[in-house]
Amino acid sequence: MKILIVGSGGREHVIAWKCAQSPRVEKIYCAPGNAGIGAVAELVPLKADQFEELADFAQSHEIDLTIIGMDDPLVGGIVDVFEARSLRVFGPRKNAAILEGSKAFSKDLMKKYNIPTAAYETFTDKEKAIAYLKNEASFPIVLKASGLALGKGVLICNTLEEALEGAEEIMGEKKFGSAGDEMVIEEFMTGREVSVLSFVDGTHIKEMASAQDHKRAGDGDTGLNTGGMGNFSPSPFYTKEVQQFCREKIFQPTVDAMKAEGREFKGVIFFGLMLTPDGPKVLEYNCRFGDPEAQVVLPRMENDIIDVFEACIDGTLDQIDLKFSDKACVCVVLASDGYPVAYEKGKEIRGLESFDGRDGYYCFHAGTAMKDGRIVTSGGRVLGITALGDDLKDARARAYEAVEWVDFDNKYFRHDIAKAIDEV
Ligand code: AMP
Ligand code: GLY
Repeated sequence: MKILIVGSGGREHVIAWKCAQSPRVEKIYCAPGNAGIGAVAELVPLKADQFEELADFAQSHEIDLTIIGMDDPLVGGIVDVFEARSLRVFGPRKNAAILEGSKAFSKDLMKKYNIPTAAYETFTDKEKAIAYLKNEASFPIVLKASGLALGKGVLICNTLEEALEGAEEIMGEKKFGSAGDEMVIEEFMTGREVSVLSFVDGTHIKEMASAQDHKRAGDGDTGLNTGGMGNFSPSPFYTKEVQQFCREKIFQPTVDAMKAEGREFKGVIFFGLMLTPDGPKVLEYNCRFGDPEAQVVLPRMENDIIDVFEACIDGTLDQIDLKFSDKACVCVVLASDGYPVAYEKGKEIRGLESFDGRDGYYCFHAGTAMKDGRIVTSGGRVLGITALGDDLKDARARAYEAVEWVDFDNKYFRHDIAKAIDEV
């Protein structure tokens, strides 16, 4: 088979790496990709928002399966463009990707179908939001730009003053662009966060291994929210009981709800969950693999990923026995100092060859590029240093060991990824 992957981050690198292990795969292309992906796939100089050009490419290169890694093109309807040309593509259609594309939509869906989530109100009028905050809100409270905002459109406000400022940023200044045309104001929840990625074929759902992300930029969960600074799988807090509850009350009900709404979901649903004192609740849905969740989940997956993608498209996921190894996996993101605000790029990365031939250690590229034959930094998140281990402590020790193998100016990382496991 010939495969095309659309995207350019660490998530797309691990997807490409996993596809490359399938005996069914003869050739992989990635658009636009990055320097690391270039080692397993041929890079195509097309951007993820060039839907028609990407479909032209898939047709002219006789691509058998296209996998969309990123949320923006999914929410924008790339799958519909491919399907209109009878091209096989993995990911939800536009009318289903709204599950991530509009938090107002997803909150209303959960309310309608009794899926546990935080209490909320939605606003399209800033003055009404302000009146609500002044008269009815209790603090802390959470403000969310409804649309896509690179995981940064969520503000946790401890006081009325902070909330008023936040509402102004989201709806007044439009700090997150049109994502802030609508805003969700949500009850603040406490508890452990767990990410559960799942494959969905419209009717059936099969979960992958659980993971826990570290969204804040600094050690001890301080600083700004980022796309994710590292994570680990499995989450020891995601017990059999929690899993059972989520299956009955959250996972299957979400798939059924989308179907009942005429928005059949095929692809990956990423459930962001909070294990609150009142039980698990949904923080958010994403309509694609997590980044860096995919980096710790896919190395543990034992299936041929192409079989699973095809089962999702064909509605035969119930026939797949999804299997994950007992190994644990930890990913530490190496970022450019200053991420997620301002940072320098173009720094040469040294030591990448240290990963060659080292089983169970992986260096997934997120923001890298080739310049004059050298690999340089080209983004905020640069590399996802990932290691498998016999248990979480072992995997963490190995990941931090490998963090020392690579170096670049401005290298920044958190020192406490997976530290939570010490509390178990
Ligand atoms: P989201 O993009 O909706 O997952 O939000 C980003 C992060 O903000 C989450 O991972 C949580 O850490 C935090 N967060 C979002 N919603 C809430 C909430 N209702 N209560 C507490 N924390 C939240
Ligand atoms: N790591 C969080 C996300 O992919 O949305």
